[in-house]
Amino acid sequence: MKKEILIVEDDDETIKHIVMHIESEFNVLFHFAKSVEMAIEKLAQKNNIALVIAKYIIDGNVGSSIYAYIKNKELNIPFILLTNKYPAKDPDMSGFMVSGKLNTYLKYPIKENLLLDSVSPVIKLKRPSIQEGYRRVSGVNVELFVMEEIPIFMLDHENNYIHVKNPEIEETQTDDFYFVTIKDYKNISSKINERLTKKIKCKTLPTSERIDYQFDSVKKIHNSLRDLGLTVEEIELGKAVYESSVGIIKKNKRMSGLLGNLIRYQNYTYELSMMTNYLAIAIAGHTKWSSNHSMKKLSISSIFQDISIQEDHLARITSLESRQYKELSKHDKDIVSGHPYESMKLIDEVDGIDDVSNNIRDIIISHHERPTGNGFPKGTTMENISGMSCIFIMAHEFSHRLLCDRLSIEVLQKIQVDFERDYSHGHFRIPYQAFIDSFHQRKN
Ligand SMILES: [Fe+2]
Repeated sequence: MKKEILIVEDDDETIKHIVMHIESEFNVLFHFAKSVEMAIEKLAQKNNIALVIAKYIIDGNVGSSIYAYIKNKELNIPFILLTNKYPAKDPDMSGFMVSGKLNTYLKYPIKENLLLDSVSPVIKLKRPSIQEGYRRVSGVNVELFVMEEIPIFMLDHENNYIHVKNPEIEETQTDDFYFVTIKDYKNISSKINERLTKKIKCKTLPTSERIDYQFDSVKKIHNSLRDLGLTVEEIELGKAVYESSVGIIKKNKRMSGLLGNLIRYQNYTYELSMMTNYLAIAIAGHTKWSSNHSMKKLSISSIFQDISIQEDHLARITSLESRQYKELSKHDKDIVSGHPYESMKLIDEVDGIDDVSNNIRDIIISHHERPTGNGFPKGTTMENISGMSCIFIMAHEFSHRLLCDRLSIEVLQKIQVDFERDYSHGHFRIPYQAFIDSFHQRKN
C-alpha cells in the first residue's frame, strides 16, 4: 500500500516542486490542503497519513496549529515544517525538534536534497531505478521538461529507456510516468529554484548580517577570555576542540538542525556553549584530565548541555528556587527542570562518540548540580559528582555569570568569593585549584 503524504501549502508552484521531487524517488499518494482548517479536516478523515509537510504561516493562520492538533490527538505523524525562520518562540511548536525524531524544518525555496533526506526516513522504500542515471517525472510535470526541449524517456517492457517524441507525450495520460537524465533533472530543478527564490520576500535577517553577528559572538568570547587571563594557546586549543565537536555533531541531520537553530536564534545558549567549552578545556589542561579524549567529552557536553531547550529565557534559569522559575507555567517548569535528562537523551543519536558517550551523559545530567546539594535534577551532593563533572560545573557557572553580568572587576571579585566558598574543598578541591591556575597566568 502506498504511503500517504499531506501537503499544506498555498503556493501552487511550490506544491508542484515538492511533488515533483518526492514522486521522482518514491511511490506515494498525495493529499493537499490550502488552509489550516482543510488540513485538520483531512487529518481527521484520513487515518493513513504518514507524513505532513506544512507551511508555517498559511492563509493568514499560523500553521503550527496543525502541529498542535497532531500533538494533542497523539497522532504521532512526522512533520516537516516549511519556514524561513524557525518559530522558536511559538508555544505550539514547543518541543517540535526534540520530541519527534523525524520532525524537521526546511527553508524556502525547498532544496531537493534536503527535502528527500527528510522524506526518506519516513517513506523508506526508494524506487530502484535511481542508480541507473534517470529520474522519474509524472505526466503532470513532464511539460516543464518538454518546454525546455529536454529528451524524455519511457521504460519499455524489457526495462530499457526509450527516447520518446513530443507528439507521443501529448497523447499520454497525466498519471503516466516518464524519465529524464539526472543531469537534466538537476538543471530544471535549479531553474525552478531560482524562480522561486525571486518570489520569496525574505523577512528574516540577511545571511551576511547573521554571519557578522555570529562572528561578533566569537570575538566577544575570545576577548573576555583574554581579559580573564587565558593564554592565546589555550584559546586556540579551545577553538580547535569546539570546531571538531561541531563537525561530529553536524553529521547527524537533526542535531545539525538543533545546533543551527541555537547558533542563529539563541544568543545566550550559543554563547554559553562556547564559553563553557573554552573554560572547561582550559581548566582540564591543569589537571590529569588533559588528554584529547577528555577534552572531547567536555566540549561535546558544552554544546549539548542545553540543546533540548529551544528558548533562551528558559535556558537562562539556573535555579529551581529562583523567582524566574517559580513564575513559569507548569509546561515551562517541566522544560527547565527536565532539560538535563532531555539533552542527555539526544546524545544517543550522535554517531562516532560511543567511546565517550557514557561520560558525556554523566556530565550533561549533572551540569546544574551544585556542591551544596541545591542543584537539580537530583540535588546530588559533591561526594557523588565525578571529577570531570566538577570541572564542567565550575566552567558552566562561571560562563553563566559572565554572560548575565557585564565583565567587571566587581563581578569577578564576587564570583571569586562565591567560588572559594563553594568549590575550594572536598571533591572540588583539585578542579578548583586548576580553575585558579587557569586565570592567574596572564603575563602583561
Ligand atoms: Fe542547562
